[in-house]
Amino acid sequence: MEHTQPVPRGLAGVVVADTAISEVRGDAGTFHYRGHDAVELARTASFEDVWQLFVDGHLPDEGERSSFADLVGADRDERELRAVVDTVTRATGSPEAALTSTWALASARRGMRPLYDLDPAGRRDAAVWAAAIVPVVLAHSAGGEPTYRDGVVAGHLRAVTGRDPGEWERRALTAYLVLTMDHGFNASTFAARVIASTGASIAGCMAGALGALTGPLHGGAPARALDALDRFGDAADIEPWIRAELAAGRRLMGFGHAVYRTADPRARLLRELAGERGGTRVDLAVAYERTAVRVLEEVKPGRALHANVELYAAVVMEQCGVPRALMTPTFAIARSVGWAAHAVEQAADPKIIRPSARYVGPPVS
Ligand code: ACO
Repeated sequence: MEHTQPVPRGLAGVVVADTAISEVRGDAGTFHYRGHDAVELARTASFEDVWQLFVDGHLPDEGERSSFADLVGADRDERELRAVVDTVTRATGSPEAALTSTWALASARRGMRPLYDLDPAGRRDAAVWAAAIVPVVLAHSAGGEPTYRDGVVAGHLRAVTGRDPGEWERRALTAYLVLTMDHGFNASTFAARVIASTGASIAGCMAGALGALTGPLHGGAPARALDALDRFGDAADIEPWIRAELAAGRRLMGFGHAVYRTADPRARLLRELAGERGGTRVDLAVAYERTAVRVLEEVKPGRALHANVELYAAVVMEQCGVPRALMTPTFAIARSVGWAAHAVEQAADPKIIRPSARYVGPPVS
């Protein structure tokens, strides 16, 4: 007989582990990476510098910066990956399938061992490798060339759009990817940690986390948020559509958050960046946000539902020329850095995460 103690639905508010990676303050609307204000990092730091903060616990100095860039560059296995990605992409057309398969196949070919069997240096190597291959897989999957001479952000944009990105595009996508590297115990990160708690391989942690990320209630929302914008010829179309969606019991993609009870700070910065570029699409998104927040307050009073990161992430990625099918995979470039850090942190504690369920099935005879 299992010992059971009821907990809130969805484990909301339940503390299940200690972490030194990120902290989210839902009432204040702030979040931090290893003590650094994440929004400030998104405005000022490079993707690679924040990546090193996740891997080694501190931002790099000049000397470390180039050796970390060499490390992540060396760990990309480009030729080997291309063969796997081309095969899976031809068979499925799905960047997510290419990522999942590549983690599994390439880690097996490299003889990567379960996290349980690796020392701290081996776990660090595994974590760097697992995140470093993500942009390469997506580049091949999109039919582009992975070239990272000027960093992951510019290389990713070049690979998926076929042109050199401008200054605004680099800055906007850097901000987006830094803002989304980690965010407390979100569903995909928790999935990665559950898998890591078994001592499984880093590839297993990443593939499981990606599966969780793709759901529309999590990282699968951006393309759906754009689908909503597509329906609006002009601002007058917005309110009737929102009311009809809510009356039908459907959720507005890009709104609401499990932790924030105030504006999502990621949405604020991305709205600002989208506004720098401007255009009718941005005007429509702002009108959609204003109307949705007002109607949601009327329909779900007291729930404090605001735009989350996904609405303006979708707008910014569209402005950068990222195709819709690559929006959630692009999110995974950033979040894989967080998943890998969490897997390593979890693997240091050899305690399996294994909660209980209340049995509500047919009586046991
Ligand atoms: N549209 C309409 N109603 C909503 C929305 C929404 N976007 N979000 C929450 N609600 C409603 C719920 O239906 C619920 O109503 P009820 O109490 O009458 O049942 C109430 O608000 C509370 O919702 P919860 O389910 O408790 O919200 P929770 O905090 O568990 O979920 C979530 C958070 C999943 C993000 C939710 O807000 C949602 O589904 N949003 C839409 C999908 C989305 O944008 N996902 C991206 C999230 S950001 C990210 O993962 C990176």
